[in-house]
Amino acid sequence: MAYKTGYGLPADVIWDRAQMERLFERKWFFVGMRGDVPKKRGYLKFELFGEEYFILHGNDGVIRCFVNRCAHQSARLVNDRTGRCAARIICPNHQWAFDPNGGALIHASHMPDRFKQSDECKHYSLTEIPLREAGMMLFACLGDEPPHDEIDRMTEIIAPYTDPFSNAGHGYKRAYFHTEIIEANWLMVMINNRECCHCAQNHKDLLKLFDPSSFNGAFTPEYEMLLCQAQARWDDKGLAWKEQAFEPDENFRIARYPMAAGFKSISFDGELVSQKLIGPFAGRQPEEGTLSFWLNPNCWVHFTSDHIATNWVLPLSENRCALYTSWIVHEDAVEGEDYNEAHMKDVWLVTNAEDVGLCMSMSEGARSKYYKPGPFSPPEQFCTQFCDWYMKHSQ
Ligand code: FES
Ligand SMILES: [Fe+2]
Repeated sequence: MAYKTGYGLPADVIWDRAQMERLFERKWFFVGMRGDVPKKRGYLKFELFGEEYFILHGNDGVIRCFVNRCAHQSARLVNDRTGRCAARIICPNHQWAFDPNGGALIHASHMPDRFKQSDECKHYSLTEIPLREAGMMLFACLGDEPPHDEIDRMTEIIAPYTDPFSNAGHGYKRAYFHTEIIEANWLMVMINNRECCHCAQNHKDLLKLFDPSSFNGAFTPEYEMLLCQAQARWDDKGLAWKEQAFEPDENFRIARYPMAAGFKSISFDGELVSQKLIGPFAGRQPEEGTLSFWLNPNCWVHFTSDHIATNWVLPLSENRCALYTSWIVHEDAVEGEDYNEAHMKDVWLVTNAEDVGLCMSMSEGARSKYYKPGPFSPPEQFCTQFCDWYMKHSQ
């Protein structure tokens, strides 16, 4: 069955691994925040299509992305999800040592001097994957010719929104990280994320914080009123708010959205989840709103007055994916004093768990011999945008 705009993806597209891999070779995808690896030699590991990668903060301050395989005999270099390398990246197998700034082989343990002194050593650097940073967010691409022009343009557009966080004069650190392995096709997770028609039935707690319109762009009169009041407030505070929403050739959406009255952060009780405010709010009052960013193919990120919450999906195979979530806070915030784990993590752990069942259900449905792609409703406009974009760039 051929793909038709405004409808779900055909089964042969959903299960086409080569098509998925092409997309990740052609497009930038989200792999974390600078705050996930704030210290020199800090790393974060992730998986994609059976391969492992890690982002690493070099001694020179540059964050790079490497394949998590030794250049000697392919042993795994880092084992934990997050951690910190020694002064050099040392392979646990035969102790070959690599430079954290660029991955060059520094010392080939056990090898004869004639090898160590030869030009051959130059061929045994770690394999590096292109990585770019925009608004403290990190994006990788598996292809050799990543679309730098696209990320340059995105960087320019999002700067008025993200610069007040990047240039706040303080650093960030990760408070918590969570990995959820989902037995579902990753496209189902993304399509689920791009609409809120399932929210009223499935995210009753989340909807105490947000009007569904903020997620799906289907403005109700009540939401328009809430948004108008918030926009006047944001203008007074000098906060950029105008929505930049998935123009036909764009792969991202950024905007500031109001939360329900009295909600100072993304928490079920509306209270701050970290007492140390961040970015434009540091030393000021918290704001009842969120700066939200969505990127095709794989993330949604929310900047509030006190933390940044990231959610990002990567396919492990056609029918399994990983959903990563991190909570980034002010570098000086102290666990147990300024924030605590359950309070901070609650909203996204609960909300994502509610989505997992739906994503698995849709994924199983797409395996059925009775599957046929159904039409998206107007409030599912961003599902149509995602599917059109996916088909355009992955074939
Ligand atoms: S496999 Fe890494 S040093 Fe041999
Ligand atoms: Fe959801």
